[in-house]
Order: sequence, then C-alpha cells, then structure tokens
Amino acid sequence: MKNFLTATEDLHFVLLYGSQLGQAKSIAEGLLDVSHQEYNLRGSLFSLNEVTDIKDLGKVKCPVVIVTSTTGDGDPPENADKFWRKLRRKNLDGKTLLFVRYTILGLGDTNFNNFCNCGKTIHRRFQELGATLFYPPGWADDGTGLDLVVDDWIQGLWPALKSCIGIKNLNPIPSIGPSQSFQIDSSTEEKMSENLETKTLTLPPLPTSALVIECTNKSPMDYNLLKPTCAYPLIDGEPVLMTISNARLLTKSTAVKTGIEMTLEFKVEENCFRFQPGDSVAIVSPNPVGEVSAILQHLGVDDAQADGEVNVRLNPSVPKGKMPAHVPTETSIRNLFTYVCDIRMPPKKAFLRLLAESCSDESEKITLLELSSKQGAALYTEKILNSGVSLLDLLLQFPSCKPKPAALIELLPRLQPRAYSICSSPLKSSKSFQIAFNIIEIPKDNNRQYQRLGVCTGWLYEILKEKYQDKFLQDDILTLDSVDKQIIGELPEDIVVFRRRNQNFTLPEDLTAPLVMVGPGTGVAPFVGFLQHRQSQTENSTIEVGENVLYFGCRNRNKDYLYENELHQFSQSGLLTNLYVSFSRDEGQEGIKYVQDQMQKNQVELISILDKGGYFYVCGDAKNMAKNVRETLISCLKNIKGMDEKEAFAAVAELVSSKRYLQDVWA
Ligand code: 2AM
Repeated sequence: MKNFLTATEDLHFVLLYGSQLGQAKSIAEGLLDVSHQEYNLRGSLFSLNEVTDIKDLGKVKCPVVIVTSTTGDGDPPENADKFWRKLRRKNLDGKTLLFVRYTILGLGDTNFNNFCNCGKTIHRRFQELGATLFYPPGWADDGTGLDLVVDDWIQGLWPALKSCIGIKNLNPIPSIGPSQSFQIDSSTEEKMSENLETKTLTLPPLPTSALVIECTNKSPMDYNLLKPTCAYPLIDGEPVLMTISNARLLTKSTAVKTGIEMTLEFKVEENCFRFQPGDSVAIVSPNPVGEVSAILQHLGVDDAQADGEVNVRLNPSVPKGKMPAHVPTETSIRNLFTYVCDIRMPPKKAFLRLLAESCSDESEKITLLELSSKQGAALYTEKILNSGVSLLDLLLQFPSCKPKPAALIELLPRLQPRAYSICSSPLKSSKSFQIAFNIIEIPKDNNRQYQRLGVCTGWLYEILKEKYQDKFLQDDILTLDSVDKQIIGELPEDIVVFRRRNQNFTLPEDLTAPLVMVGPGTGVAPFVGFLQHRQSQTENSTIEVGENVLYFGCRNRNKDYLYENELHQFSQSGLLTNLYVSFSRDEGQEGIKYVQDQMQKNQVELISILDKGGYFYVCGDAKNMAKNVRETLISCLKNIKGMDEKEAFAAVAELVSSKRYLQDVWA
C-alpha cells in the first residue's frame, strides 16, 4: 500500500472514496479522469481505509475531496470502516484537521434509515476536528436518482476546487467537447404529456463513445472463460462453483402468478464454503437470452457479429479514454451483453443523452434530452426510475435510436451478482445451504414495453422449469429429489456464487440472550437459519437457550405461509417461544394485518424482552415495512415505559448503536 502522506506531496488534490458496491468508487474515478483530462490537474485516489492515520490527513497540504456511500443501517462501506472508527477516536481534537480543506459527496438512499449517515458523520467530525469546507457537501439519493444531485455537485466542484488550489485559469482543455444548447419545442410537451414551457437547456458534454469494436471470426468465449473477470467489488472471497441439489416450492398455490416463493438447496464441497447464520450468497446470473437478442437485433448486430470474438480497443482519437475495468477486452458482443453489462438497471441521465444522440428521429431525440435535463427531473423519476424501465424498453419506445454497441458497453453499469439470505445453519449441515426467493412477474405497462421476471430469479426459474417441465409447479410442494433421485448434484449446471458476510446481522454469541425476529415474506429466511442454529447449539448443551419470538406475515394462510411446517416444529419443540403470524389478505383477522400490528398487540412482552437485554432483528422490505416496524417499536416504548417521543427515539438509537437492533433490509 502506498504511503498516504508521501503520495500526496505533489498533488493538486486528493480524492478519498468509501464504496460498497462500486458506485462511489466509479464516481470518484470519473472525477479523477475528468480532472486529468479536462483540467490537467494532478490528483490521486485512495480508499478511506488507506488513510491509516488521521493525523497524516491533518498534514495533507492540498484540498481533499471525499465521495462515500452509506450501507446497512447507516454504516460505512467496508473500505471506509477503519477510517470511520479512527475518526471518532477521543484523542483527536479541534486542531487535528485544522489545515484541511475538504468537500464531500455522500451517496445514500432515503428508502433506508439514516440517509447518507456515513458521509454526514464524516462531515460533522471533520468540522469538530477543525477542517474547513471549501465547497458545500452534496447528499445524493439513490431512491430518487443519484444523478439529480451528483451532476450539479460535480459541475460546481471544478470552479470551487480551482479557487481552493489557487489556480487562476482552470479552463477545460478545449478539444474535449463544449456544452450544448438545445431548444425544446411544443411537440415535446405533448409527447411527454407534461405541461412544460419552451425552454433552452444547457447540457453537459455528451459522453464520448471512445471505442471501436472489431469483429473477428474466432470462436466465441465460453462462459467459463469469463469467470476470471468475476472479481466484483467488495464481495467476500473467491467465486465458488456450485450445483443445486434440491428445490422446493414454498407457496402453496401456483395460481398466484405474482409471487411464487421457493427455496433452493446448494451442495457445498468440503471446506470450500464456510458460512454463518445471517450471511447471504450472491449468485452470478446472465441476462435473459431473449432480451439480449432483442437488443442486438435492434442495434443491427447480426448473429455472426454478435458471436464472433470482438477486440474492444481504444479509439486513438480520444487520447486517454478507456473501457471500464470490468469489461473484458476479448470476448463476443453477445457475452458482453449477457454476462457483463447490466441491461435492466433504469438508465442514468448520461446514458439517456447518449441514446438521444443516437436517434435519427428528431422528436425522439428531443424527448430523450428532455428526460435527461434538469427540467425533466420529475418526469425522469416517474417514467424511468419508478417504472423500472430497462434499456430494451427504451429502444422499443424510441425505435430510431441505434447507438453503437461499444458506446452502450462503455456506459452500462456492471451486472452484479444478486444476493439472497441463507436460511439454514452450518451446524445442521455444512455440506449444503439453502436460500429462499420470490419469483415475481413484472407486467407490461405504459412505460415497460414487455413483461419480465427478475434477472436472477427468472433465470433460476427457467432452468428448473426446463428440467422438470410438467412436474414443476404442479404439485403443491415439489421436491426435486422426490422426482428423480439420480439427478441430485447434477442440476442444472454450475452456478457461480460468492459468499457475502453479513457482520451486521449475526446471532449473539450468548445463547441465553433472548431474540425478537421480525420477518414478513421472504424476510423470514435468515430466521429459519437462526432457529436451526440455536436448535443445534442447544442439542449438545446444558445451557438454557433464551426466548425466541418470531413475527411473520404473509397474505393468506393457505397460499404463502412460508416454512409453515418448520415453524410449527420449532414451536412444538419449545425453541420458538412465541410465533405471531399476521395474514394481510385473509378474512376475520380482527384488525391484525401486518407484523407491526402483532407487535403492538404484544407490546408488553416485546418491551420486557428488550429490557432483558434482548436482540431485535428485522429482515425484509426497507421501504415501508422496516420503517413501520421501527415506528411501532417507538410507539410501544412510549406506551409501556411512559417515554416521550424523544426518549423513545434515543432508546431505539441506543439499541442500534449497541448492535441490538439489527436489520437486513432491501428496497
Ligand atoms: P400485502 O401485500 O397484503 O399488503 C409479505 O410480503 C407480507 O408483508 C404481505 O402480507 C404484505 O401485505 C405485507 N406488507 C406489505 N406492506 C407492509 C408494511 N408496510 N408493513 C408490514 N407488512 C407489510
């Protein structure tokens, strides 16, 4: 590792990043590229954890620009956690960072608690330690679209950095591309079904398509050959090849089109995959074959071009342009669209501008530019972000749009492995583990041009369906090993998975500690693993295990009561002290619809468990459920302990900071 302080000596500025899934890092890398290419600045990029001594940071002479995301329940990303801990040490004082000039861009998601907590805490602490802000912080919300804040923040950063460094003329190097003006006419108004006035938009430079793809006729790259490129940011450890050894439907009615839930068992080779309850696995899946073909067809790439090996190389007309590091340079276009590029993520604004430039129809171009403009922000949120619009949706909606494949490959984000909670315990079986997931059909609507399943769950579903055809989805509960004992271990093909440690969602070591677990829907999955684990731990122990209380919720008792048998067995054995189930769509539930209604009903027990040093776990939907559950806990604290709002908030905050309120939630 380079020595941080020495490495900063001759720099114009230092860029520090904290990044969990790579977004903050890629923004920081983009900043560094622009600073070199367009402004001729010397900057250098470090992860926050590379700053091993906060006092070194205090000696840095140049301005410091920080870009960091927030993860979990307001936690720092893994490559910023040590820095974050050191920054909070008590031996630092108001002089530690006295000469530091800094600014910060925080990335967060308002669907989760503690929006931008990592960035905001760093900012607050920098202030306490005497640092000076040279440019206002930006707090970007992934819930509404990071670009809304990020684009403007970056635009304002350059002049601020210039005056902070003391450079008189920090002008862009002219050849890189001027900003463009675009006139919007009244036909756009109709097209966008919005009452927008005619206005002139000033757009930042379009991203340059800096690449040419040369097709050769070498044989296409095999999926296996792509595996070395599977080093995804911050996923724990090496990829492991696994086979599915068992599959089972969890929902009882296959008539429900949306929301088939199932569990899969993976076979684990001896010692090659160690896990603990609360961990998840990230599965590498390809994009749907048909969707990729439809995109390539639209782009005018025929099969020979799609499957021939391409040599992605830089176009010499852009001196320092480069393909993102995750794009392998020798493979086929089809492989790139299938395994490397995320074709489902709602396109970002820079991407829409690229699409606009690739339209031969002027009105389509204008509509796309409008969507990517500042004035079109609300429309962008409604029509793109909230609708989950994909690349293919846009190509179908704007038929004259024919971007170059290489330009798309350059701008599309990386296809990430999809994470699923493990719902079994290694103590029960270290040779296999199980996950549970939901197969949801996403329907066509005004914005989505075709019906689809989720990328990874749809892929798993298709594999199983193909193998078991008529048997699959006919029985209420289908167990693959009941269908054909011979196929166990062969099914269906190798699947690449990574383990994802979840240090913020672990069982307490103390077996006597009581637990309250709240997990509606597939949120119950890790708790099945927790209960299995505790059961195994008690089998060989004389210690009396603490109370285990589970709040589960689903729609109908007869349709989607997941793990019903297992949960009843845990209850009968006495391990599960109380099982509270709420059915949101069954008749006669006496006002108990959701998990939080059950919590309210059982508030005396709930608070007494927490008073005994209990742990409170929440798993599932972040957007509504996790927020409602937290509000309900606050209300229970007020009712039972006579706290006022402020005291109840503080009590929950204390539970969070002492790691007794633990969440694994997703938006
Ligand atoms: P619903 O779909 O009938 O509204 C698992 O998805 C269960 O969580 C379902 O019963 C679902 O109910 C319920 N659910 C939906 N929104 C919720 C919320 N805000 N809080 C708790 N449970 C919720």
